[in-house]
Amino acid sequence: MSASVITVETQKDLSHKLIIQRPSAGLSLQGCIRVPGDKSISHRALMLGAIAQGETEIQGLLLGEDPRSTASCFQAMGAQISELNTELVRVQGIGLGNLQEPVDVLNAGNSGTTLRLMLGLLASHPGRFFTVTGDNSLRSRPMSRVVKPLQQMGAQIWGRKGNSLAPLAIQGQALKPTHYYSPIASAQVKSCILLAGLLTAGQTTVTEPALSRDHSERMLRAFGAELSIDPETNSVTVTGPAQLHGQKVIVPGDISSAAFWLVAGAIVPDSELLVENVGVNPTRTGILEALALMGADIQLENQREVAGEPVADLRVRSSRLKSCTIAGDIVPRMIDEIPILAVAAVFAAGTTIIRDAEELRVKESDRITVMAQQLNKMGAKVSELPDGMEITGGTPLVGTDVDSHTDHRIAMSLAIAALVSTGITTIHRAEAAAISYPDFTATLKRVLF
Ligand code: S3P
Repeated sequence: MSASVITVETQKDLSHKLIIQRPSAGLSLQGCIRVPGDKSISHRALMLGAIAQGETEIQGLLLGEDPRSTASCFQAMGAQISELNTELVRVQGIGLGNLQEPVDVLNAGNSGTTLRLMLGLLASHPGRFFTVTGDNSLRSRPMSRVVKPLQQMGAQIWGRKGNSLAPLAIQGQALKPTHYYSPIASAQVKSCILLAGLLTAGQTTVTEPALSRDHSERMLRAFGAELSIDPETNSVTVTGPAQLHGQKVIVPGDISSAAFWLVAGAIVPDSELLVENVGVNPTRTGILEALALMGADIQLENQREVAGEPVADLRVRSSRLKSCTIAGDIVPRMIDEIPILAVAAVFAAGTTIIRDAEELRVKESDRITVMAQQLNKMGAKVSELPDGMEITGGTPLVGTDVDSHTDHRIAMSLAIAALVSTGITTIHRAEAAAISYPDFTATLKRVLF
């Protein structure tokens, strides 16, 4: 594709403008894509590697800014982590209970997963004091969802607004086991409590209202923790104190990153993309089910299991989409893909309804308000619902100035919408994509014809 169709301009404040101009002759997407490593699995591999006994080897780590935040926090507490790369990262674990008191504030950057999962470990390290913070977005996101269950276990945590906002201060304690009934289906809440349970003598149980991603459960078992799972009640129990041993982790491609190409391949006419090596853990494949409901042509090829996680290559060909309704238990299984699903809905015949997704309001941005505002600026018909969106498809989009609100998934969703909009779309603060997908723009340039 000619270089002028996609340009990146770096601004004085170092933010990026991503400018996408659709050529009058039309375009298509063709080729093979390898998406970067799964973000959730990358965080967990670094964390469990750091607290296990012995060495952990990680292949395929995501080199985005979020896992870098996790690595630097655990390095500050004594773990030795080799230079981050996709081939092989070696983590010298310090053994459970041995996190050192850091000499400075731990900074989780933009990463809710880093901060919330880490809190479970910090709160259960007796005699050590920790302070944690994050960027503007993370400092406004609710932490009471993990602070409350940890307090139920006896944790001592202080912060702004009734201990609910970072920066937080934590005085580590020997905790007591609990059974926590979480009001939300959140893998971050579930994982935080399970990690606190590792050092806590006895049985710590979390029950969630619907099943959230289960990467922690899979990886904790692989590292040697004693876990029992009751699928009937969506409950997981960990028995502490646990023994974790370093493992070899192979991180599959992130389905949340693949989702941009699946939607792009579906809505850009005459396209065919093969997205290789994508994790298709059933707790993450809600987006595949939703796109199938909309009539997308997506085939799973070469299905296999790699290091305890199901993996497949995904082939997408463009097709006419129709609206769908997304609500209930599917929502936690596709929570990060709803912004890009909203883009698909804009190009689908009929009215798509998304409900039960109020969690979107407390992600890296308020993804309901921001997606509705930005897509409407381009001419879409999106109305906000308290817990979702109503999207009437079929109105042509016109390029204009839009803004990521520093949210990586919004930046990439708007870039895909721009491919099917007339004129020029300028996405402000598009550098946010590097949180989870540093090569997104380079890949987009490569597959555009
Ligand atoms: C994540 C869980 C999800 C997801 C986030 C990563 C994880 O958050 O949105 O991007 O790695 O555990 P919640 O579990 O809070 O919904």
